[in-house]
Amino acid sequence: MKRPFAQLSGTGGYHPARVVTNDEFSKILDTSDQWIRERTGIRERRISSKEETNACMAKAAALQVLEQNRLTPEQVDAIVYATASPDRLLPSAACDLQAILGATNAAAFDVGAACAGFVYALNVAEGLIASEQAERILVIAAEKLTSIMDWSDRSTAVLFGDGAGATLMTPSDGKRGILSSYMKSDGTLAELLYRPGGGAAHPPSPELLQDHSYYIQMAGREVFKAAVLSMADACDHALQRAGLTSKDIDLLIPHQANIRIIEATAKHAGMPMDKVYVNVDRFGNTSAASIAIALDEAVKNGRITPGMTIMLVAFGAGFTWASMVVKW
Ligand code: ACO
Repeated sequence: MKRPFAQLSGTGGYHPARVVTNDEFSKILDTSDQWIRERTGIRERRISSKEETNACMAKAAALQVLEQNRLTPEQVDAIVYATASPDRLLPSAACDLQAILGATNAAAFDVGAACAGFVYALNVAEGLIASEQAERILVIAAEKLTSIMDWSDRSTAVLFGDGAGATLMTPSDGKRGILSSYMKSDGTLAELLYRPGGGAAHPPSPELLQDHSYYIQMAGREVFKAAVLSMADACDHALQRAGLTSKDIDLLIPHQANIRIIEATAKHAGMPMDKVYVNVDRFGNTSAASIAIALDEAVKNGRITPGMTIMLVAFGAGFTWASMVVKW
């Protein structure tokens, strides 16, 4: 059997309505619009309301892509869900989505790979299609990251945002689909970007809230360096496995964490910035959802058209990194 086994049939996306500018952060933290823009490229981000749960945002994105494919939720065979900020720890976010969507015939489970989660989830879904276990898979990436970020920590609070993206993975028509993929992790570096408390080793307690260990903690400078190296590694592998060069790629969609990381990745891959999709300025870092949201936006605004070859590249906590070349 040879690739492509599976294709991405349409996209969906959801952004909370509330826009929070850098100036709003400078009223509550020792920071400035200028610092945030220059160091990260972020101008504003979307922040969800209490009612906009992770699952609700995912549902909105999922319904869009199902509608495009004229499918009902009952026709979905599997839900593969990437998130680092589920509404609750048990059961999975995928099962919560299954219930509110009414996807009664699906197998549903989460993939935990932080910001690389969407590309990991696409890989898992492709495997289910290739092994003929499913034919219509909702691949979801949704984050309510602002619920687990420390609003008093200027080095992380200004970076993150909320939102959701979705795609439907189906068997390839023989022309379109996933041409290559690559996944890698390094768990020895976990503590450079993690949530120390709240899990089974450090269950919730008053102390845990007091010392802020419930929230995301990040050694920004170290993460920055690892992100640049890992995303370069991921681009090289996906291209090599597809038997392509960067000249064959029409659009690069990198994880949207920081414009400087995106520019370094593009430079390494030999891609001019006009072939790189950027929306970190408007959404900040939406972790697993970032590539899914960018992909949905690029399809809807015509940056991606049928026949194009695109490359996805992601990096996140773990550390995890991953890439994929897709014929659209
Ligand atoms: N406003 C003003 N000053 C700030 C802010 C802020 N919001 N945040 C940090 N600073 C200060 C620091 O305290 C430090 O001050 P000091 O020199 O007096 O000590 C100074 O700015 C420089 O800090 P650095 O951390 O070295 O700044 P850097 O240029 O590296 O930018 C940033 C920080 C934006 C976090 C960057 O390191 C980065 O983007 N890292 C990668 C993040 C990322 O890619 N994450 C991906 C995965 S996320 C996930 O998986 C959930």
